Amino acid sequence: MKKFLAAALVIALMALMVSAVGAAAPVQQEGGEEYFVQANDWLSKLAEKQYGNVLAWPVIWKATNLKAEADDSFVAIPDPDVIEVGQKLWIPDEAAAAALLEEFATERAAASSVGSDVTGELNLLCVVQLDWCEGQIAEFNKLYPGIVVNWVRMSSGESLTRLRNEASKPQFDVWWGGPVDSYIAASQEGLLAAYDSPNAVNLRDPKLMKAEDNTWFGIYVGSLGFATNTNYLAEHPELSAPTSWDDLTKPEWEGQILVAHPSSSGTSYTHLCTNVQMRGEEAVWEYERALSANVLQFTKSGSAPARFVGAGEAAVAIVFSHDTVKYIGEGLPLELSFPAEGTGYEIGGTAIINGAQHPDLAKLWVDWSLTPAAQELGPKFAAYQAPTVIGAEASRPELLEVNLIDYDFEYCGSHKKEFVDRFTTEIANADNLKK
Ligand code: G6P
Repeated sequence: MKKFLAAALVIALMALMVSAVGAAAPVQQEGGEEYFVQANDWLSKLAEKQYGNVLAWPVIWKATNLKAEADDSFVAIPDPDVIEVGQKLWIPDEAAAAALLEEFATERAAASSVGSDVTGELNLLCVVQLDWCEGQIAEFNKLYPGIVVNWVRMSSGESLTRLRNEASKPQFDVWWGGPVDSYIAASQEGLLAAYDSPNAVNLRDPKLMKAEDNTWFGIYVGSLGFATNTNYLAEHPELSAPTSWDDLTKPEWEGQILVAHPSSSGTSYTHLCTNVQMRGEEAVWEYERALSANVLQFTKSGSAPARFVGAGEAAVAIVFSHDTVKYIGEGLPLELSFPAEGTGYEIGGTAIINGAQHPDLAKLWVDWSLTPAAQELGPKFAAYQAPTVIGAEASRPELLEVNLIDYDFEYCGSHKKEFVDRFTTEIANADNLKK
């Protein structure tokens, strides 16, 4: 840590003061450059552009935060998933970035002194909320301090696209989180490796919660619901939180609904396929068209709508119920409700990537993910999904005690591309998604 701070301080000292906030072009300086966030930027995308490595995003995150300590023209980034257009970032040059990456690796490898002597690197594609990614990796490192986990958070659809694009030379070893619809699609495309995990015996319902060919395993369950801003309800006493899918298309919610785009988000694909199953493959498009007329903007990540609705940017979000519980816990003014006629749910998955460079370490991650100890960690990191294994208890069982449809994961996984393409061409394109 000391070494890391020293390296970052050197970068900070070498930097010159520039006050051109709002300019988009990078401002070159010694040791790196200032960069002003533009629409559709996020840290992993910048890391890939700058260093050719999505996994290097913490370099920009941490270097910017260190800058902010010494220079108040920078603002620290508390949540690396949220960067604002116009915000100033510090992008270390390749040499400084390589040094910082090495520092992080040393830091993380030294994070604990307990346990096994397995060493190596594991590249993890994480789809759950960022706090849970970070926390779960730290817990894994308590058991395996010698494994350096490089990771990045991406939404389900984005991850699937990336796995497709990298199929001939996969960068990731293991995929963790996100509804299994995407895993089923990936498995059908040969992107996942079969692994007969000894811990699959722990699964409560192996028929439902793992692939028959062992290419993916279920690690949590969560129901889809609505999150409504309670201040908005107080200001509009004639309204109440929606309790039906059809409520969302009523004129009183015009411009007040936020939901992710199903091309990037597994949450939103769950909403789409839920409605396909409830309404049929033709009538659903009429519904989605009416819904989209009330949507203020589509977002990239599935849980973001609840965060934005909590901040008062719109009135209602379509999100997983456990995400609403997380944000209520953080003090956001949200009310959770469910469609009474039935709602969809997710089984969150994990899988080893076909052609992974570190398959043995990926197996350790998957085995661990299927233990009660690993699955009971969720609430420690504000993740209230229900576990899939025997011996781990649900922290919020009431979230699944609602009217759930008999969601057909095989059907939704097999038709994912078709339904998403139709949504994109007929309902809303995926340009300019809200980050
Ligand atoms: C959140 C939820 C997870 C879900 C994930 C999907 O992180 O807590 O339960 O699997 O969203 O992410 P996405 O951005 O693809 O909708």
